[in-house]
Amino acid sequence: MPQGSHTDLAGSPAGGLLRDRFPLLERRIGDRPLCYLDTAATSQKPEAVLAALDRYHRRSNANVHRGLNTLAAEATEAYETCRRRVAGLVAAPTPESVVITRGATASLNLLARGLEHELEPGDEILLTEMEHHANLVPWQMLARRRDLTLRFVPVTDDGELDLSGLDALITDRTRLVGLVHTSNVLGTINPVAEIAGAARERGALVVVDAAQTIGHAPLAFDDLGADALVFSAHKAYGPMGLGFLVARPALLERLEPMEGGGEMIEWVHLESSTWAAIPHRFEAGTPNVAAAAAFPAAIDLVEEVGLETIRDHERSITAHALEALEALGGLTIYGPRDSAARGGLVSFWDPDVHPHDLSTILDQAGVMVRAGHHCAQPLHRRLGVPATTRASFGLYTRLDEIDALIEGLVAARKVFGR
Ligand SMILES: Cc1ncc(COP(=O)(O)O)c(C=O)c1O
Repeated sequence: MPQGSHTDLAGSPAGGLLRDRFPLLERRIGDRPLCYLDTAATSQKPEAVLAALDRYHRRSNANVHRGLNTLAAEATEAYETCRRRVAGLVAAPTPESVVITRGATASLNLLARGLEHELEPGDEILLTEMEHHANLVPWQMLARRRDLTLRFVPVTDDGELDLSGLDALITDRTRLVGLVHTSNVLGTINPVAEIAGAARERGALVVVDAAQTIGHAPLAFDDLGADALVFSAHKAYGPMGLGFLVARPALLERLEPMEGGGEMIEWVHLESSTWAAIPHRFEAGTPNVAAAAAFPAAIDLVEEVGLETIRDHERSITAHALEALEALGGLTIYGPRDSAARGGLVSFWDPDVHPHDLSTILDQAGVMVRAGHHCAQPLHRRLGVPATTRASFGLYTRLDEIDALIEGLVAARKVFGR
């Protein structure tokens, strides 16, 4: 890692976009500058988000929707502002189409539970081989409860969805098609609109997991042709413990609430209750109001830079990473070679150094990557490896952080006698 070089490039695209807004990135690991290449796991948070979290707790902390005092009104306003801003971010049909959840995983569980009453034994759900466990396990659980059949769109050797058999995979029994927008392992950006079109023609619902797209590229609900879209705030420069389900209002009206309790009801009698209107009927109990109050600051930041600009930046970083890893030789690099077809992350396998050893050695050089199956075990089985090493990027990623990664890989190989 070139020592101290981080400030030399500040403000240029090579130096990352608005990097100086992210205090944690100034950290050093021992005598090395921190090189954070794990944004796909969670993004770092800008000062404005940290300040908003602090301001909320110091000035407005109260429970939402429950009181008529000033603080409760402010907390409710902050919470509902988050809903409106998220609706704006993804061009949702209406703010009421946005359910506030704990994260993408919670949103997918909410959907799977909410649809249960509509599904009959023998109905089919079509997923893909590249799903994160969050878009796999809830459907498996539902399939077990309702005796459904799961089918899967296969992944090609190039790390793309093999759509050649799509017509046969979507049958008259297919009730739902669920797929990831940007794979968290392959980086592949899937042709969601095309698949959604085929699914809707057969009357199936379409659920899109945009956990790795939100905050990294423009995303408009209507362009996808989907019925529901899920994502988490923490991967888009916002706080943890906050996520969203954006869905067509007609779909939300059909879902049974998964959790009962305060906030989600209209009238409660000792023996029975009626539900609040959408989206509140899916938001039982006290939500993470502080996180919701802070997320608009992250949206401000990505809108200040522009999602097209962020996408272009991550694309250049990814292209540089692909080229540098390729030049190293001996690695298997997963996903499309063209950076236009992928998001800001690269996973690879070095036959001589296990990803766990690699990430430990890289960590000693201040380089944070992720090693393992990245919550996609079936995909790793398809790739024929137990684990991969993943470097992932954000708007703040600098070109010289890729160089630090490459230097670390060379050093790791030396440790293992190559
Ligand atoms: C593609 C994808 N889907 C879903 C998730 C789950 O997100 P969360 O853990 O924030 O619920 C992740 C997280 O890594 C992901 O990468």
